[in-house]
Amino acid sequence: MKRKTLAAAFATLLFTTGAAVASEAPKLPAQSWTFSGMFGTFERSDLQRGFQVYKQICSSCHAAHLLAYRNLTDIGFTPQQVTDIAADFEVEDGPNDEGEMFIRKAVAADRFVKPFPNEAASRAANNGAYPPDLSLMTKARIGGPDYVYALLTGYKEEPPAGFALMEGMHYNEYFAGHQVAMAPPLSEGAVDYADGTTATVEQMAKDVVTFLSWAAEPEMEARKRLGVKVMIFLVVLTALLFALKRKIWSDVH
Ligand code: HEC
Repeated sequence: MKRKTLAAAFATLLFTTGAAVASEAPKLPAQSWTFSGMFGTFERSDLQRGFQVYKQICSSCHAAHLLAYRNLTDIGFTPQQVTDIAADFEVEDGPNDEGEMFIRKAVAADRFVKPFPNEAASRAANNGAYPPDLSLMTKARIGGPDYVYALLTGYKEEPPAGFALMEGMHYNEYFAGHQVAMAPPLSEGAVDYADGTTATVEQMAKDVVTFLSWAAEPEMEARKRLGVKVMIFLVVLTALLFALKRKIWSDVH
């Protein structure tokens, strides 16, 4: 009996919170991504700009620990550029011959250096909130790239009348509950794009989401290419089998 009541209470809780979040969440505007659809690919220039936004802005709070610097050659950086990018960071290594840990410059084979050593340190620096790792973020949220784009561009200076915004929180149209601990990370001209593109909030959001989508699925282009090859193969095989069937059955018909 007791178990039943508990289960019922749990179900009600699940149902009501689910319903509350669902009814509050506004519909995500669909963006047109170069990488969606069967033939979608990542633009190398978008990816490199997106990496610049991640490195100069997001990486001061968010880790992306599944990426290594050497992976950046996949998005068009030369091995020398990758070595230079990695050399801006320091990692702890060791132990050395004396049994001590030491700090050295990062190399291409190292994973992206985290901004904080552990979760407690990142919470302490962020008002108690935890900036999640971004490596798989576009796969981890419903709406994927559209959601992350909407989150980055969905801040409002003033919450609607009557909305009780808590201290240190920011109103965002698309975050569940509308109160997010992350201050608006993007502002007009926040980065100086190497290729001269104007750094509007929308442009930076689009670029960084493209970069994060690649980070979450670096094999996407290869997967889609293989898919197209398989489809072509199946069409040819079907035609051959059909011709064969007609030949074999030609006496009977
Ligand atoms: C000053 C620190 C800071 C910077 C810079 C920052 N963030 Fe955040 N971010 C946070 C914190 C803190 C949270 C957790 C928010 C919460 O739980 O209320 C967060 C949460 C998120 C989330 C998860 C939202 C969700 O649905 O849970 C995403 C996605 C995100 N940030 C993306 C970015 C991107 C992309 C950038 C760079 C353009 C960026 N952030 C820059 C601090 C930061």
